[in-house]
Amino acid sequence: MSRLWDKGQPVDDLVLRYTVGDDHVLDGRLVAYDVRASSAHAEMLRDAGYLSTEDCTALTTTLQTLADEHADGQWTIALEEEDCHTALENRLTERLGDIGGRIHLGRSRNDQVLAALRLYLADAVVWMMDGARGVITALDGLASDQGEIPLPGYTHLQRAMPSSVALWAGGFRSEIQDDVAGLAFTMNRIARNPLGSAAGYGVPVLDLDREGTRAALDFQTVHEPVTAVQLSRGKAESHVVFELTLLMQDVGRLAADLCLFASQEFAFVQLPNAFTTGSSIMPQKRNPDVFELVRARAAQIPADLQAILAVTQKMTSGYHRDLQLIKPPLFRALDTTEATLAVMGRALPNVRFNADRTSAAMDSGMYATERAYRLVRDEGIPFREAYRRVASNDG
Ligand code: ARG
Repeated sequence: MSRLWDKGQPVDDLVLRYTVGDDHVLDGRLVAYDVRASSAHAEMLRDAGYLSTEDCTALTTTLQTLADEHADGQWTIALEEEDCHTALENRLTERLGDIGGRIHLGRSRNDQVLAALRLYLADAVVWMMDGARGVITALDGLASDQGEIPLPGYTHLQRAMPSSVALWAGGFRSEIQDDVAGLAFTMNRIARNPLGSAAGYGVPVLDLDREGTRAALDFQTVHEPVTAVQLSRGKAESHVVFELTLLMQDVGRLAADLCLFASQEFAFVQLPNAFTTGSSIMPQKRNPDVFELVRARAAQIPADLQAILAVTQKMTSGYHRDLQLIKPPLFRALDTTEATLAVMGRALPNVRFNADRTSAAMDSGMYATERAYRLVRDEGIPFREAYRRVASNDG
């Protein structure tokens, strides 16, 4: 099985390995999405009169079988095939003969990869939102079970004003909710139908129905003009990973608080043993590695964003193979975020606040602003005078 563009001349093995990179492995997650897009394309060709009903049925049924077999681990994309698009067409031709050669009419791998990626991204964004909602549920659980427990509020890591577990958890909850809303906005860039733009300059001679594949694939709009499609590659990806950066930053800061709270100096929280790790040398240690790694993984998402942006930064218009390198940081950012949200959703309900320790940390200085406000309210004096009186009494 070889490449779609194979014209009989051998490709240097090193060049093949270098140009494909990990793409044949990474594309495993796009197979099911390419099958959806290819089936919509075949049905559109049928409706437009370029494919017989029998051939179309043979193609769509075989595509579905290939998707099922791939999901079942019965085949994988070979390095020699480059990507999922080639692997699917090879197998269609293997099973259907010449009929397999009819599927690629009016398209290119350039619009195919965008269609598969966008369908995948639309699902992935939903997975990320679900994961974030899991963290929100866990934070709500902390607020309802332990919300009354007082907690010092800090500025500059100095005790500032009284807070509580409910207020602390509520802040993160609200920001993560905002991040979910931010992720929903990315659909504007994701849900555009690239099919019919082919290599990037449209389809001559044939009269293809781009609106038909849009409707079949549930895209919001047809991406027009055709020259915009390749210019946009990487932008929906960047938008999603930017939103992941913000989401993971909130989750990372939550984890940073918990690392601090779990130290012996604070001892505001305790984690059950199953959520801590030990030391190879110090028998007494129970470390909050899980939150440390959440913090560190969160910090790596902007590196993935930068890796995506860098690919297209100075590229001229149209398709270039450079674009393939957007996939590794994109998938890495999605995988890291998904795993992190899952572990946070699991660990948070197990965090136990120690009310004795947090209450003991509520020193009288933290109520100084309150005392000043009482003076203003009860005596009608200017705030600055009240501030000075409290400062001299307290000092
Ligand atoms: N794997 C390729 C990518 O991700 C698919 C498109 C290849 N197109 C091409 N003209 N070489 O970009």
